[in-house]
Amino acid sequence: MKDHARTGLADAFTALYGLAPEACFAAPGRVNLIGEHTDYNEGYVLPFAIDRVARIGLRIRPAESGRLLRIASTRGGQVVEAESTGLAPALVAPWARYVAGVFWAMEQRGFALPGADILLDSTVPVGAGLSSSAAIECAVALGLNEHLGLGLSREELVLICQLAENDFVGAPTGILDQSASLLSTSDHALFLDCRTRESRPVDLPLAANGLQVLVIDTRVSHSHDSGGYKELVLACTRGATELGVTALRDVGIDRLVEAQDTLAPEIYRRVKHIVTENQRVLDTVELLERRGPAAIGDLLLASHTSMRDDFGISCAELDLAVDTAVAAGAIGARMTGGGFGGSAIALLDASRSAVVADAVHSAFAEAGYLTPEIFAVVPGPGARAL
Ligand code: GLA
Repeated sequence: MKDHARTGLADAFTALYGLAPEACFAAPGRVNLIGEHTDYNEGYVLPFAIDRVARIGLRIRPAESGRLLRIASTRGGQVVEAESTGLAPALVAPWARYVAGVFWAMEQRGFALPGADILLDSTVPVGAGLSSSAAIECAVALGLNEHLGLGLSREELVLICQLAENDFVGAPTGILDQSASLLSTSDHALFLDCRTRESRPVDLPLAANGLQVLVIDTRVSHSHDSGGYKELVLACTRGATELGVTALRDVGIDRLVEAQDTLAPEIYRRVKHIVTENQRVLDTVELLERRGPAAIGDLLLASHTSMRDDFGISCAELDLAVDTAVAAGAIGARMTGGGFGGSAIALLDASRSAVVADAVHSAFAEAGYLTPEIFAVVPGPGARAL
């Protein structure tokens, strides 16, 4: 499969920079099966890596040429040039910050990196809530780690990529996306405890059960370095403080009645989503292990309802995608990722795939929305050398 090879990338690299890449790496985007906005509340998440990846070609530049870092993309645009040390966001174009941010984050961790030529190529749609940015960061971080023999573990790379995202790109996100990209394994979801950062694979035998996960990209684009995401982080922090806990992870369902009495309504709704969502992740893992993927539909739907009514991060397009998919026979569906647009996922019998996709296309056309992108994803491997 094209995504899983160096095909095309090495040739494009050579054509651009005049020398072949020394190494190529790939890192996947993700969908989150369940567990939304729980990551920065030190809770649980259950994503899986998808078969859409960011690939990079990498060549370290000789020391005598200084520390020049050149970043290019197969999507076109200019080659971005900067020094590989002492980087600052203002020095590089926004799209190149996911690459430069990793160099910067590695430097914060004590690695003064050499200059390099990098060519980026990605099949993860941008702005679709599928972690196109984390995929780039993880491909670069794994590439530098393996090619330069830095000796960092994948768990350490997760934190380096998160640092790049938080403090260089400027999006105050948790560790969901980077963990999914670096730690996932084929045919499994990744059950991650965002407090202890312990994770384990959970069997997700979709094809063996005749099932499929469809991504419905509403093409309503979102960005987490703007206000909405940050406000949610603040609301959750306030809820935890007012309830006297370190993080909302520490609030059990049994405290919700008390929380409703003491918290402002808009804080309570956010707290309620996080507390119930954590429980839904645990229930989903349990059901997957006991009964298999066909059993988790109701939990996916309950998660969507909670994000729509309590957390307040859905939108009309996402709700229409979910409602239409279910009406057309999906076992379950929910928005996935940060919200305010992006994608929904639908879990369905593979034989219903075309019917569900047609129904969603028609419903969007009727509502006058943009034409959604609808495609199946399979739980694929995490970041890797090519
Ligand atoms: C974005 C962030 C993640 C996570 C999700 C919501 O994808 O990058 O850290 O908070 O939103 O679950």
